[in-house]
Amino acid sequence: MYILGMESSCDETSASIVEIIDGRPYIRSNIVASQIDIHRLYGGVVPEIASRAHIEAVSRITHEALDGAGITLKELGAIAVTSSPGLIGALLVGVNFAKSLAFANGIPLVPVDHIKGHVAAAYFENEDLKPPFLALVVSGGHTSIYHIKDYAEFEELGTTRDDAAGEAFDKIARVMGMPYPGGAALDKLAYEGDPKAIKFPSPALHGDNLDFSFSGLKTSALNYINSSTQKGLAISYADVAASYTECVVKAICTKVDAALEKSGATMFAISGGVAANSHLRSALARLCDKKGVRFAMPDRSLCGDNGAMIALAGYFEYQKGNFADTYLNASAYSPLD
Ligand code: KG4
Ligand code: ZN
Repeated sequence: MYILGMESSCDETSASIVEIIDGRPYIRSNIVASQIDIHRLYGGVVPEIASRAHIEAVSRITHEALDGAGITLKELGAIAVTSSPGLIGALLVGVNFAKSLAFANGIPLVPVDHIKGHVAAAYFENEDLKPPFLALVVSGGHTSIYHIKDYAEFEELGTTRDDAAGEAFDKIARVMGMPYPGGAALDKLAYEGDPKAIKFPSPALHGDNLDFSFSGLKTSALNYINSSTQKGLAISYADVAASYTECVVKAICTKVDAALEKSGATMFAISGGVAANSHLRSALARLCDKKGVRFAMPDRSLCGDNGAMIALAGYFEYQKGNFADTYLNASAYSPLD
């Protein structure tokens, strides 16, 4: 069975063909049209511009995905589309395009939650990953820990009460003059600095919870940079990057450790754009190794937003019979939150 996965919740328009053979997913094409160069001029995603750029790209990338997989529309068993959460105007482009394509061609339409899509990315390279397990979705918009009860059944165990980890990385990178989104550049710079040089407040919330708050850390780092600049003191951006990264990674490890302890889970997966962070990947790998927990990571190329993860999450919804009709609407919020 072939599934077309469509993603347009933020600043990447993506279409992918995933083939399911004996229950295993195989990516036949995964086209991602990134808008980063456009939004970089403004230092962040401009929603109206994002919607327009999705409209320009969506038809072309869908053709490219079909051509890349060497199949025609008629061979599709389902069309999966991100319908929540995200920028509403951006989501509506994908939802309406997928709806038209599905109903004009008599193909079943499956709505997919973006968060479920991110988690699905971890299945491609990790054949043994099967529910139940714990998952951390860490991206520009999310930092949450889930109990994956079944392929399409999630329970949120903890989340951020304000900013997401990716947002916090991007903000501080921007203040240090790195182009948007600065997460990946900060990841590299952190290797050149001392992770113990600056003490920042931990984003792991106190108490018996699995929640985070990144706003205090962000403000503290901004204050450090601004007050040092005002006093004419030299700042090592590498030390800021290393100390900031250490603080985020430690907080995430603390909460993941607590979640694994509480749940007794024997498998743990990460996903989302920030799951590409090399410091986080190795710290979580060490933690899981120590605890005897199987750690599953998606390939870096599947951590960011892409259509392949939506196609696979769509397959799981398809199996449960979760189809959409012509009334399908987009929602800025996830039902999982
Ligand atoms: O999953 P994603 O593509 O979009 C959302 O759903 O938000 O994640 C994008 C986020 C951005 O904040 C970006 O800076 C961050 O992922 N990111 C990273 C790295 N690569 C991407 N953050 C830290 N280290 C990285 N290597
Ligand atoms: Zn995402």
